[in-house]
Amino acid sequence: MIQAIRQIEAEAQTALASARNEKDIEAVAIRFLGRKGALTGFLRNIAQLPPEERAAAGKQANEAKKSLEAAVKQAKKNLSGKDRPENDTPIDISLPGRRATPGHTHPISQITQEICSILERMGFSVAEGPEVETDYYNFEALNVPKYHPARDMQDTFYISDNIVLRTQTSPMQIRVMEKQSPPVAVIAPGKVFRCDSDLTHTPMFHQVEGLLVDENVSFADLKGTLTAFVHEMFDSDTSLRFRPSFFPFTEPSAEVDILCVMCRGAGCRVCGQSGWLEILGSGMVHPNVFRSVGYDTARYTGFAFGMGVERIAMLKYGIDDIRKFFNNDMRFLRQF
Ligand code: FA5
Ligand code: MG
Repeated sequence: MIQAIRQIEAEAQTALASARNEKDIEAVAIRFLGRKGALTGFLRNIAQLPPEERAAAGKQANEAKKSLEAAVKQAKKNLSGKDRPENDTPIDISLPGRRATPGHTHPISQITQEICSILERMGFSVAEGPEVETDYYNFEALNVPKYHPARDMQDTFYISDNIVLRTQTSPMQIRVMEKQSPPVAVIAPGKVFRCDSDLTHTPMFHQVEGLLVDENVSFADLKGTLTAFVHEMFDSDTSLRFRPSFFPFTEPSAEVDILCVMCRGAGCRVCGQSGWLEILGSGMVHPNVFRSVGYDTARYTGFAFGMGVERIAMLKYGIDDIRKFFNNDMRFLRQF
């Protein structure tokens, strides 16, 4: 009995070894493993064996079946790539090769570069700083003491009591001023983090911070700079508005809105029916911030702003959901 099984197995292996293409292999598989195959028939007849032989024969036949199935699989694998001519798929060697598709810059990086280049042309220089910040730079030095209610304005990811993922690029104001005396004209692009997620908010997003400090800097300079920026970034006839706001580190403060490009001001779900979309926060640097870096508050004034890169990208390209930037859907990303 066992002998017979071995015999079948050996025959199948020989047949497989001489198989030259997919069709041959399939024929071998059918001949031995198919519904009417030799091995299958054998397994079916085991019930008719004397009881003392059944177990051993069953085991042997099952093992043979498994090893044959594996051999068929392997034979197919060995074949792929080889023996193509016999497989009658002719290769047209005159066809051009398939080019590797080159990658490109992510739309958010493109917009960041564009924002920076506009501001650099106005005379700002670029500074970069850490994404993991101390509580001091992210809050304290920016006139937000511990337990101050203004901390609730941003849902912070805490790493420990004193270390946070920066919630804004504003700590860069402090880092720059600690190292440099006025005049200062810097921008600081980078990632920021907040526990926040909906159509216009993601837990990680990008800001570009701006800071200008000198003698006689006024709110008119802030307005002029940001208006020129918006007109350069979008169209020279883009509607924007300065809306009074509050930040602990600026006084007075204003947020800048742009007419919603999705509904052109009519009100839609992207702009929360208001017709406007906020792109940045800004204001005149608070004297307490100057004090924390040792600047002479009687001599110097300055303005600062922090803009949301994703918001600007949404407005520029008419994208209705900020999360599309981070889903890594190539059909979306390839358009930029
Ligand atoms: C700030 O972060 C202030 N640091 C800005 C500032 C700098 C004010 C300097 C004064 C002086 P705010 O939380 O409003 O402010 O965020 C600034 C911009 O970031 C917003 O206008 C918006 O465009 C964008 N933004 C805020 N939260 C998110 C979010 N979760 N996802 C995407 N963009 C966001
Ligand atoms: Mg805001």
